Parts: sequence; C-alpha cells; structure tokens
Amino acid sequence: MATTASDRTISDSINTSPVLQDITNQALDPDKSDPGSKKELINFLRGWPSPSLLSPSILQSATTALLSDPSLFVPALQYGPDPGYQPLREELAVWLGRQYSTETKSEQICITGGASQGLACVLASFTDPSYTQTVWASAPCYYLACPIFEDAGFGLGRIKAVPEDQEDGIDIDLLETMLKHYRHVVYLVSTCSNPSGTTMSLQKRKQLVELARKHDVLVVSDDVYDFLQWTILPHPDASSPSKPGPLLPRLSDVDLSTPPSTTEIKEGKWFGNAISNGSFSKLLGPGLRTGWVHGTPDFVMGLSQTGATRSGGAGSQFAAALLAEVMKAGELERHLQETVRPGLQRRHGIIIETIKQELGELGVTVAAQDKGRFGGYFVWLTLPEGLDGKRVAQKARQEEELILADGEMFEVSGDEQGAKFRGNIRLSFSWEEEHKIREGVRRLGSVLRAMLEKIQ
Ligand SMILES: Cc1ncc(COP(=O)(O)O)c(C=O)c1O
Repeated sequence: MATTASDRTISDSINTSPVLQDITNQALDPDKSDPGSKKELINFLRGWPSPSLLSPSILQSATTALLSDPSLFVPALQYGPDPGYQPLREELAVWLGRQYSTETKSEQICITGGASQGLACVLASFTDPSYTQTVWASAPCYYLACPIFEDAGFGLGRIKAVPEDQEDGIDIDLLETMLKHYRHVVYLVSTCSNPSGTTMSLQKRKQLVELARKHDVLVVSDDVYDFLQWTILPHPDASSPSKPGPLLPRLSDVDLSTPPSTTEIKEGKWFGNAISNGSFSKLLGPGLRTGWVHGTPDFVMGLSQTGATRSGGAGSQFAAALLAEVMKAGELERHLQETVRPGLQRRHGIIIETIKQELGELGVTVAAQDKGRFGGYFVWLTLPEGLDGKRVAQKARQEEELILADGEMFEVSGDEQGAKFRGNIRLSFSWEEEHKIREGVRRLGSVLRAMLEKIQ
C-alpha cells in the first residue's frame, strides 16, 4: 500500500537525521543562521538557482506580449488541451531537436507541471503496483524521487538500489541479473546526475534500452540538467566557450530511433521503453512549474489521458503560454548561453579550485571531473577514510554555519543496504555566490581537519 503524506511525516520524525530535520527547518526559514553565531550562513544543500541566475526581464517582456493580444491571452487563461499548450509543444520540438541533433516532433512531447509532477503522472498512468513489481533507482539517488514512488504504491521494499559506477552511471550487468523475472520501472538521471554528477555513456544508453525492451521495463530519465553543461575551466578566470559541443542522445531518442519489434506493438500502439522527463525549473526558474515528457506519440497520448490532466488539461497552461513566447523570441537560448551556463561554469571552477586547495591534501576526492565537461548543480565528494558524512554535516552546521547534504540522504529509501554512501557528501554550487562558495569550502576544510586530528 502507498505511504500517505501523513505516514511519511510520522516516519520522517522517527527516521530523519538531525541534519535532515535542520534542512527542513531551513526550507521554512531559508536564511536563518544561529543568532549566537557571528558567521553568515552558507547553504551548500540548496539545489536552487541563485537569484543572479534568474532573468525576470525576459518573463516581463513575454508577459506583456502575451497579455496584450487576445488571441494569446484567451487560450492562455482558459482550460488547455490534454497534451499541453500546442505552441509550446511546437517550440520545444524545434529547440530540443536542435539541442540533441535529432528530429523531435511535437506529438512526442507532453507538457507537464515540471519533472516531479511529470514523474507522478507517468507512474499514475503507466504503472500499477499489482503488475509492476519493482522500481529500480540508480544510487546515489535523487532523494526526493523516493516519496513520489511511495505515493504511487511502491512503498518500502518496492524501490531497489542499482549502484552507479564512478565512470558512467548504473551497472548494466548487475541490473540485468536483478531484472530477470519482473516488470519494472528504472529511474535515473542519465546526464549530470543529482547527486553524483556522472553522465551515462552512449554505449550504456543503448545497452539499457535493449535491456528495457527485453525485460518489459519503462526507463524514466530525469533530464533536468542536460542543457546545463559546460567545458571544465583550467582555472575559474579562464575564458572558455561555455557550451561543450553536442549533447548525448536522450534514452528516449535511443529508444525512438530503434524500430520496435512486433511484440512491442500492443493493439496497434507503441508505448516505447524509455522517456525523457524535462523541466524549465533549472532553465528559467522552478517557480514556473512547467516541464515536458518526451516519448513515443502513443506514450505521450496515454500520459495526456492521466485522470487529473483530463479534468482541466495539462498543468501550467498560463506558464506554458508564457514560455512559448520566451522561446519564440529566442530568449531561452540567449539566457542559457549568456547567464546560466557561464554563471554555473564559473561557480563550478571556483568550487573545484577551492576543493583542491583546501581539501585535496586531506584526501577528499571529487567524482566525474575527468571528462573535460561537467554540468548540473552539484559536486559529490568522497571523504577520507574514517569520516562519516552525517557527522561531518552535523559538525559543519553546528560549528561553521554551513549546511550540506550527507551521502546517506541519497541512499534508496527502504533499500539502504543496496548501495551505501556514508562516506560521501554533496555540495551544491548553484545557490551561493562566488565568495561564499570559497568561504564555505574553507569552513568545510576546518571541520574535516579537526575531525581527522581526533581520529589520528
Ligand atoms: C534529478 C531531479 N529531478 C527532478 C527535480 C525537480 O524538478 P521540477 O522542479 O521540474 O519538479 C530535480 C530538482 O532538483 C532534480 O534534481
């Protein structure tokens, strides 16, 4: 049976680490530091874009254009079609096709209320806990996906961890041995994973789609960081193009480009085995609550028939209309190119440089920095032998006014033994400004040094 929101509140208060409770408090009062401390709070936990990465003027112009023209504002303010606001589907088809260098059609796109709501609707329409045996989550796992699976009826014990390897994502051979007799969902962030930063190689993408077809699997890839990739800077002040060349095809592209066998076509329909769950949250602002799912036209049509969507139309109709205006004016690409990618690229350069200077000699290592390109919001650190991430996070909060995420948070709920991350921490570099990123890493260095001295 699905855990309800109230069950979760109860179990959270029993199981949640003090650090996580702290985080919850922080979410209510985001900028609160200890009144007794002289230090300014630094938040390396928050996976939000910093205010300096937002461009309200773009939305202001699009809103003026939208609200001045009845042919635009009337449909924008009415109930919309089930698969979403058609002009946005068309803009996305052109833009995504260009980004991934693949042909993308509007009928392959369903507008959603963002990746989280997209995932919930996919599970509501395409899984059934009495038929779908298991959700396989790549681990370390985006921790807020687990409650979405629980709400869909995949409670504790029904979500299993598939460990990622350091190189390029989940272990396909291990997954194959685990899948043998079941119908399944595999959930992962195939590009610039949250939290580990790893990106799955093209070869593994192909293997995973092949496996999905063989074992009746729906692969859901949260592709929310695909457009936030850059060339790694030799040092933060180096000038370098922020866009690192062609993107890898989505798992849904790999699936769509491989023709289905006759057994994969059911009653004349081809639902496919992999979908891409995209979002505007990290592109233009999470408050827009708009995203899209890319999959086969039959999958998209099925998704658009989710009960809650049929009563009212696709989520975020007004925001979708606004976003269509932004895209028509070419402002999305300009904002990514001029503000978001360079801003994140520099922050990433700074955090890596400071980690090398302050934490390198302590034996801290950083995942996924060896490919010349990186992306997303997070770096994933492995702590020196003997240090526990949760203790480090507690001490950082208590002694240094520094909030960070310990590795345990990214273990798969109910299958913590499947893949353990007690020796890891995740640092977000998207939220804090540059001087606070440097200062935060220095504070982390002080915490680690003091802890290491005690155990030596
Ligand atoms: C992997 C992943 N999926 C989904 C989300 C949430 O996306 P949305 O804001 O579109 O619901 C996040 C946000 O941090 C994320 O990191």
